Amino acid sequence: MVFELHTPVLLEESLNGLLATEKATGRVFVDATLWLGGHSSHLLARLTNEDRLIGIDRDPANLKEAKIKLGNPSNFTAVHSSFAELRNILETLDIQKIDGILYDLGVSSVHYDQADRGFSFRSDGPLDMRFDTSDTEKTAEKIVRTYSEHELATIFRDYADEPKAYFIAKAICEIRKTQPITTTKQLQEIIENSSFDKKSTLRVFQALRIEANDEFKHIETSIPQAIEALRPGGILAIITFHSIEDRIVKQLCKKFETPEADEITGMPVTPASLRKTTKKPIEPTSEEIASNPRSRSAKLRIYKKI
Ligand SMILES: C[S@@+](CC[C@H](N)C(=O)[O-])C[C@H]1O[C@@H](n2cnc3c(N)ncnc32)[C@H](O)[C@@H]1O
Repeated sequence: MVFELHTPVLLEESLNGLLATEKATGRVFVDATLWLGGHSSHLLARLTNEDRLIGIDRDPANLKEAKIKLGNPSNFTAVHSSFAELRNILETLDIQKIDGILYDLGVSSVHYDQADRGFSFRSDGPLDMRFDTSDTEKTAEKIVRTYSEHELATIFRDYADEPKAYFIAKAICEIRKTQPITTTKQLQEIIENSSFDKKSTLRVFQALRIEANDEFKHIETSIPQAIEALRPGGILAIITFHSIEDRIVKQLCKKFETPEADEITGMPVTPASLRKTTKKPIEPTSEEIASNPRSRSAKLRIYKKI
């Protein structure tokens, strides 16, 4: 039932980008953020039996359902892991080179609908926010309970550009002295009462989710592994959903777009290994935003390995 609720973002744009590889057949693609297989189901329909698709997701809850949705074809393998483990995953599957990889970062709309996962303040639930509930003990509840005022304010500011970061962090630390903060609604109330801005709740929840899942660390670990694994002519496609995430991806990829120069002579020693395929990131059309509001802030960056 849940499948119909999910609409893949920038679907045509990302698949067209991904399929513009230089190799025509026997290709290996990776969907680094499989979830319910929104992008993968359409990608599989465009692949031949000689091609192969590996789908990775850190959240085990729906991998089984994604397999059912995708019909578990012989050229598809689903892996429960973080994309930060890309090199190990490929090694285990005995794959030397890949032709294309897609990251559709962040959280799915279905995550927000599951109150017991704690991603959303629209319904009351435990402050969890982990993608992989078997992975670590770092829940949003633990962060709110154990981080210092300074640490909380820093993640609210650095991961969500929250202007009232220090007021909110101070309020959390005051209130937790007398009562444990364990639910989404409780936290929402504290944020709203200390920031006087309803938008702060969205930003603080985003920051806590990023911290609970070490999201930026996983992105920074994975992308260099993806570039290394790509065959020349292979494609790296990344969809981001907020400016901080987009900046991280852009700056990380920039390093690979620029030849490395010798510190003394200034001569290039390592050639560039990536080239942007479009000057600016691709954004959803107004029609897509109207039919799928979640796509509103999406940006797709596509690079070719050279
Ligand atoms: C926006 S959804 C992907 C939706 C998918 N493209 C589709 O259309 O069905 C993002 C997914 O990435 C997963 N995810 C987040 N961080 C991850 C990581 N480090 N490694 C693997 N999957 C991750 C989440 O569990 C979530 O299922």
